[in-house]
Amino acid sequence: MPESTRTEEISESTVESEAAQRVADSVSTASVRQAIERSREIEEQINKDPSQFRVLTGDRPTGKLHLGHYFGTLHNRVELQNKGVDTWILVADYQVITDRDGVGPLKERVLGLVTDYLACGIDPAKATIFNHSAVPALNQLLIPFLSLVTESELHRNPTVKAELEASQGRAMSGLLLTYPVHQAADIMFCKANLVPVGQDQLPHLELCRQIASRFDRRYGRARKDKPVFRRPDALLSKAPYILGTDGNKMSKSRRNTIELAMTADETAKVLKKAKTDSDRAITYDPVNRPEVSNLLLLASIATGDSPEDIAAHIGDGGGGTLKNFVTEAINETLAPIRARRVELENEKGFVEGVLAAGNEKANEVASQTLFEVREAMQMIY
Ligand code: TRP
Repeated sequence: MPESTRTEEISESTVESEAAQRVADSVSTASVRQAIERSREIEEQINKDPSQFRVLTGDRPTGKLHLGHYFGTLHNRVELQNKGVDTWILVADYQVITDRDGVGPLKERVLGLVTDYLACGIDPAKATIFNHSAVPALNQLLIPFLSLVTESELHRNPTVKAELEASQGRAMSGLLLTYPVHQAADIMFCKANLVPVGQDQLPHLELCRQIASRFDRRYGRARKDKPVFRRPDALLSKAPYILGTDGNKMSKSRRNTIELAMTADETAKVLKKAKTDSDRAITYDPVNRPEVSNLLLLASIATGDSPEDIAAHIGDGGGGTLKNFVTEAINETLAPIRARRVELENEKGFVEGVLAAGNEKANEVASQTLFEVREAMQMIY
């Protein structure tokens, strides 16, 4: 098999989620606890004054968004946006090539992602959707930022280490090694101060804060009154961790995901194959009955009822009844999103226009920040 095909397949599969899980496991519980506490404080501040915050989040355009994305992050982004937080969403197209040779059907995936965002309720009047490769000044920040980190710091980064381990012996590219610095540029070019992330991304935010303070220590003398960069905080999500329909980690290659773009029938088909057990009495018991409990969790997130109540409601109905219940709950929740998605599929020009407008705004802001950076570095001639 040619190398490019092989790596394309690896990355499509489990690399990202498994690497993420390993990092999440390795981040010390003390720092996670601290980040959770800080996140709850920030949530209170958001409710009091959302205008203090600019959020930056992003996704790699490597495939279609699924329920895990929706309940884990998308839903939350829409909520932040609707609370009045200035929300910036990055389609991280340059990050696609960190761990694979080919880009796949990139344009289709980028526009598919933008379509998913809009279908889920991201409002282009309130949020800015943009992509890496269209914003040169963002990427140029990488040069001064790389001078502020050491090679050994990059090698020690737990996410980079985990992604390397998960890539099955593939040599690490320079871009994979430095992508946390690229991510710092993503956050800092627009001076975002809040980044909704999973636990696995906490080390990246720490690096981002280090780069911000090192930059100001090294070059900030000319602007003592006003540092160039803010120190961004993580916002850890409260969403429960959802597994795929077979009880394993959700991943496309396992065919255990429910994509936002699926039809109701396709969803029913995937759920029909979901794993349950032979005990007809349905109970919520994540330790001893992980598959049944995961289905209950999915139903719970979709309906807003507790998994215990749903289990009691299904009673002795067995796995079949449970699957039907989950299918209906999910299809009902996703119906308006899917309807909007179908509409947007027919308005390709609109979707492209949203991205173009977002890129224009991102370019303005990035150019301004790069100017401030060059000014601090005495590079305006
Ligand atoms: N690394 C993130 C992912 O794999 C995507 C991403 C790129 C991102 N830049 C970011 C997330 C900046 C938050 C902030 O999903």
